[in-house]
Amino acid sequence: MSEDLKQTFLTDLEKVKNLTDLSGLKVKYLGRKGLVTSELKALSSLSSEEKRARGKTINDLKTFMETCLDSHESGLKKEDLRQKLLSESIDVTLPGKTLPFGSEHPLNTVLSEITDIFVNMGFSIEEGPEVELDYYNFEALNFPKNHPARDMQDTFFVSDEVVLRTHTSPVQIRGMEKSRPPIRFIAPGKVYRCDADMTHTPLFHQVEGLMVDRHINFSNLKGVLEAFLHRMFGKDTQIRFRPSFFPFTEPSAEVDIGCIFCKGSGCRVCKGSGWLEILGAGMVNPRVFDNVGYDTEEYSGFAFGMGVERIAMLKYSIDDIRLFFENDVRFLRQF
Ligand code: DAH
Repeated sequence: MSEDLKQTFLTDLEKVKNLTDLSGLKVKYLGRKGLVTSELKALSSLSSEEKRARGKTINDLKTFMETCLDSHESGLKKEDLRQKLLSESIDVTLPGKTLPFGSEHPLNTVLSEITDIFVNMGFSIEEGPEVELDYYNFEALNFPKNHPARDMQDTFFVSDEVVLRTHTSPVQIRGMEKSRPPIRFIAPGKVYRCDADMTHTPLFHQVEGLMVDRHINFSNLKGVLEAFLHRMFGKDTQIRFRPSFFPFTEPSAEVDIGCIFCKGSGCRVCKGSGWLEILGAGMVNPRVFDNVGYDTEEYSGFAFGMGVERIAMLKYSIDDIRLFFENDVRFLRQF
């Protein structure tokens, strides 16, 4: 009887192809109503002697089946894993999926060129708020309320006393308020004016510069700006200072470079003059020193300010400032 059972079990086991078949087989023989289980139940009707002999046979059979099922199961699991690894394997020789690389915005390139040159000359970098008090943007820089000099800068007013800074010059005041001479810093940043055409945008960038100490004079200003302009535009660049006016400098100058396109003979970009206006500068007005409590007998200084977009436009021959801010990749890809 138990030999028959063993034979059918082995035949059944041979037909098993997967884990589901296997657990079916387990139920069929060893489950609660399984064939081996019912044999064990049938023992109760036998005498105790018969019970012992028959019981041992059945239990041996049961152990045999369990061992067979276990080893079969681990074989099937191994095969399953092998198949899974085969189907899920990664082909490391396939080419990777590349993302397009961006590039630095031309304004940032020019801005870091400018800052690098000044940092190399020992200038540090200062920052100030873009939403600024009227006091710092104008008053402390010697633009009194209602003074016509304010007309030069079309201003976005946030309230009577608060403006979007129209230039980086207020950082001069903030920088001087928080320390004492010697002072030597530049202040790059965003500025805002209510203005829009081919060469003006409501937001643009400036770099301010300030140097204050004992015995600072106009030739120091010339020396620093010449060094800067020669490094920025090439050492053969012509430089010219023209008298000008800014409320916070006295005397004031407009600084031009010889036109980098026509080399001075006159072209469309320099409007036939042979010169390009690059920055404003001057000796710090003693009234400004008064406003920050510096002794005007002891200290003197110079300041300058330039537009980053203007320099970038000249450097890359860009004729419309709006291209910097439209972020058209056909434009940006060229840098
Ligand atoms: N703040 C001036 C402007 O935006 C530029 C300028 C001129 C800055 C002369 C200076 C300076 O520091 O000395 O038009």
